[in-house]
Amino acid sequence: MITVQDLYVTYDKRTPALRGVSLDFHDGEFVGIIGLSGSGKSTLLKTLNGLVSPSKGKVFVEDKDVSRLKGKELRDLRRGIGFVFQEFNLVDRSSVLENVLIGRLGYQSSFKSFFGVFQDEDYRLAEEALETVGLKEKTFERGDQLSGGQKQRVAIAKTLAQEPRVILADEPVASLDRNSGKAVMDTFQRIQQKYGISIIVNLHDVDLARKYCHRLVGLKNGKILFDQKTEEISDDDITGLYS
Ligand SMILES: Nc1ncnc2c1ncn2[C@@H]1O[C@H](COP(=O)(O)OP(=O)(O)OP(=O)(O)O)[C@@H](O)[C@H]1O
Ligand SMILES: [Mg+2]
Repeated sequence: MITVQDLYVTYDKRTPALRGVSLDFHDGEFVGIIGLSGSGKSTLLKTLNGLVSPSKGKVFVEDKDVSRLKGKELRDLRRGIGFVFQEFNLVDRSSVLENVLIGRLGYQSSFKSFFGVFQDEDYRLAEEALETVGLKEKTFERGDQLSGGQKQRVAIAKTLAQEPRVILADEPVASLDRNSGKAVMDTFQRIQQKYGISIIVNLHDVDLARKYCHRLVGLKNGKILFDQKTEEISDDDITGLYS
């Protein structure tokens, strides 16, 4: 459970990027955040795991005030919250398996030689993650041999190997064609259904958001315009959001 209370974020003393945002994210939800460019979607996502600090207001993850966490507590929080970016963030010259194992590094106490630190359990989780994203047959290929959609699914497998409670995804399909984008959204859906991991995703594509997300938060000029079950959102709501 994540609770956001009266959140303001101001980057450089000008108009705040977020202005009084309050909402809860419950365990196991699939939530889409939509809105025009500059409405504050990325800012909201980044405050949830402490990448951006609130100017005012608070974010609680499981009753812990994110802005008060330091050191080990902050690392534990970040390990429990996966983050998927628009630009895949893979190591092109490493194999798919090596890329996914990077998701396990947060569980190691030291950074000795790369393979030296991994246990059987780490390999098992990496294989399971690749199975879940449908790329087991690519295990030993190099990152740069994959298509964009496949790279993004490897990035998701890496995040999954981290055993998160929540996955935050910032425009994960914005660089992909429609079919690859759907495959990525199908992957999030499978993860949410199979493991009950919450998915919170920023999307430009309203059709994809309506098709996959159970709840949609509409942000406009740093404020919440609506926050409802997807089936309750009307075409007028969407028009109002983008006007
Ligand atoms: N690092 C930063 N420094 C200064 N201003 C920023 C920074 N990041 C975002 N902003 C500003 O904050 C506002 C919200 O930006 P944000 O990136 O959260 O919007 P967004 O909804 O994610 O947009 P997009 O759809 O283009 O990704 C914008 O006015 C933006 O210019
Ligand atoms: Mg953004």
